[in-house]
Amino acid sequence: MDFFEAVEKRYSYRGEFESTPVPREDLIKIVTAGTKAPSAGNLQTQSFLIITDPVTRAAIAEIFNHKGISTAPALILLVSRRQELGPNKISFELKDYGAAAENILLAAAALGYATLWTDGETSMVSGRQEKLAALLGIPEDHSVRAVVPVGIPKTPGQQPPRKPFDELVKFEKY
Ligand SMILES: Cc1cc2nc3c(=O)[nH]c(=O)nc-3n(C[C@H](O)[C@H](O)[C@H](O)COP(=O)(O)O)c2cc1C
Repeated sequence: MDFFEAVEKRYSYRGEFESTPVPREDLIKIVTAGTKAPSAGNLQTQSFLIITDPVTRAAIAEIFNHKGISTAPALILLVSRRQELGPNKISFELKDYGAAAENILLAAAALGYATLWTDGETSMVSGRQEKLAALLGIPEDHSVRAVVPVGIPKTPGQQPPRKPFDELVKFEKY
């Protein structure tokens, strides 16, 4: 699939997934796209955890109680690492992980899979990140930012409309 087609085809899928497994080589392709994302200072604070094991998926499903996360044959966890940069000790981890996340969503869309970026549900419900860290052995200076279910959607959807182009894009002067 052409890059621009993948950009159009990607959407947030919140329904149930078919049980069809996602082949390992596809998962590797998808996370490789994540590793190719830019990162501040090329420090690569983003990392990825692929989970297909049914027991671990069930344990994660229990933490979330979410239709997509419970049924997806594969989960990709987006993990960031705290890393201070420069004299002002700025941590770019959220930007680094965000860039990687978008690459992952687009790569999955290009291969025909549906996904959902669940940062809100991971970070806004207290205790979830801690439970995931304990379950999965996430180091203390790392955070699970989102669990991304990946698979074939039972009820495919599409991207919701965007604001008008002219509202979001200006030429020469804002
Ligand atoms: C940082 C971030 C966090 C998000 N967290 C969630 C989430 O927790 N749950 C969810 O259903 N969607 C989440 N989304 C998906 C957005 O709701 C979605 O991208 C937006 O509504 C536009 O729809 P689209 O992805 O289908 O184009 C998140 C997206 C981003 C970028």
